[in-house]
Amino acid sequence: MKAGVFDSGVGGLTVVKSLLENQTFEEILYYGDTARVPYGTKDKNTIIRYCLEALEYFENYDIDILIIACNSASAYALQALKDVAKIPVVGVIDSGVLAVKEKIKDKKSNILVIGTKATINSNLYEIGLKNENFKNITSIATPLFVPLVEENIFDGKILDSTMEHYFKNLKNIDAIILGCTHFPLLEDKISLFFNKAVTIHSGDAIVNFLRSSYNCTKKYENTKITFFASSNPEGLKNVAKKWLNRLL
Ligand code: DGL
Repeated sequence: MKAGVFDSGVGGLTVVKSLLENQTFEEILYYGDTARVPYGTKDKNTIIRYCLEALEYFENYDIDILIIACNSASAYALQALKDVAKIPVVGVIDSGVLAVKEKIKDKKSNILVIGTKATINSNLYEIGLKNENFKNITSIATPLFVPLVEENIFDGKILDSTMEHYFKNLKNIDAIILGCTHFPLLEDKISLFFNKAVTIHSGDAIVNFLRSSYNCTKKYENTKITFFASSNPEGLKNVAKKWLNRLL
């Protein structure tokens, strides 16, 4: 099975990592819209337009399924993509909500959703969690984590003060949805800030969702992976080498 993975830039490689670790696909075509990243600061219509253009790009490659790794794109463009695509299109928000449902049994648990401004403003995680009867949900946009990860800042003072800045008023968080492609790279630090709260990672969530809803249960060794980018493809490949190292 051949999957397209779309992201606004390099961040979706965290989703690719989970797909490779779980040997979900025979072949992956990754396309990062590095010329126009970030999506998380853009409005709905712009995000939809960019995503429809990405879909056209993938139409040249005969993929069986398209995964929207970007949370901001999943939040705003999933329906528009589904409306026109001839193949299944899967976003990361429903799978994230499902992962919370599976991991967190107490509906009164304090769930924190973090993401870009676009993802948080869409309110989609919150709506999904409320539909699953979760009662205590806090959503906050934490966009500064995105450039930190892109600058390879995974610990130290800048990260600590950014966490303090966003999280200082939050207490007793039980689970955190890492609602942005970049945040899994800060997973341990964010979890530790909240006394080892449970974290929900889009990549792992989508693997389970693909298994349960799209019957992607077969395992493929040695997935073939090709990278495309709308700007600086070499830069994308270098990040891929670093983030996915032994999996490539
Ligand atoms: N990929 C985006 C997301 O998951 C983060 C980077 C951006 O803003 O484009 O929301």
